Amino acid sequence: MKEQLKKIEELAKAELAECTEIKALDDLRIKYLGKKGELTAILKQMGKLSAEERPVVGQLANKVRADIEEALSEKLTSLKASEQAARIAAESIDITLPGKAQTIGKLHPLSRVENEIRDIFMGMGFNIADGPEVDDDYHVFEALNLPPDHPARDTQDTFYINDKILLRTQTSSVQVHVMETQKPPIRIISPGRVYRSDAVDATHSPLFHQIEGLVVDKGIKMSDLKGTLEMLMKKLYGNECRLRFRPHHFPFTEPSCEVDIMCFNCGGKGCSMCKDEGFIELLGAGMVHPKVLEGCGIDSSVYSGFAFGLGLERMVMGRYSINDLRLLYENDVRFLEQF
Ligand code: DAH
Repeated sequence: MKEQLKKIEELAKAELAECTEIKALDDLRIKYLGKKGELTAILKQMGKLSAEERPVVGQLANKVRADIEEALSEKLTSLKASEQAARIAAESIDITLPGKAQTIGKLHPLSRVENEIRDIFMGMGFNIADGPEVDDDYHVFEALNLPPDHPARDTQDTFYINDKILLRTQTSSVQVHVMETQKPPIRIISPGRVYRSDAVDATHSPLFHQIEGLVVDKGIKMSDLKGTLEMLMKKLYGNECRLRFRPHHFPFTEPSCEVDIMCFNCGGKGCSMCKDEGFIELLGAGMVHPKVLEGCGIDSSVYSGFAFGLGLERMVMGRYSINDLRLLYENDVRFLEQF
């Protein structure tokens, strides 16, 4: 029997040495120490032993049990440790690997310049006004002193939805909306999309952007218009930039002018960019026509105002020397990445 006990201990230790999984340890415990296990089977035969042998074998059996138990718990500790080491190794991060670069988008050049212009005007105390892109004939034309048969309508070939409703051709319509709902003093700009039935080429698009400006108060003069626009352009293009005010005609302003900026490319000498003019046309402006003020319920004997409308695309193209308007709408990232 002593031999058998020793054999069991040896076998149990040998099996434990081979064991590599915590789950398998339980099976071993049951196999050797369980109620139907090998050690118990031997102890059940103790009755056959003589009275002298019994305590000796009993003591040995207890020692074998204790040894196997100790070996089991040592194995459990070591298996747990190696399992944890393996998990840590698997989860470790190799900080020497190069990171994945994040590509962060940026604002479209149209939005950038628009934001700059908004900031400059807000610094001068202007508010931002919004108006509908789908508007009626009255706000886009009639209230701006462009009656139905006015020839100037032809230059703004229009997308009509029906006889009276159309896509606005100019942000000047916002002037009317603002003056209908606000009393002077008024000081607003209104950036937004406008639409004209034009074929696409390097300088035309059926959709483009304008920024309208309107100031109405007592004693507003042409010099206020000039000072405001000069401030805008100096902030945008630098202190050396020079403006030229040319007489022009718009039905909703009197007097009216067009404003040119000295060519960025040649500094006024004349080049292909300014078509040898030395100046590039930037915007239309003028003193708000008394008829327009009166039509919006503003007394033109008390109040006067100035207005201007500038083309955002033209400003952006001048700013970044872009020679084809279509580049601004094609969303080619090779182009957009450059700004
Ligand atoms: N709305 C005009 C256009 O689209 C531009 C313009 C001219 C706006 C004179 C004005 C202005 O406010 O006073 O051609």
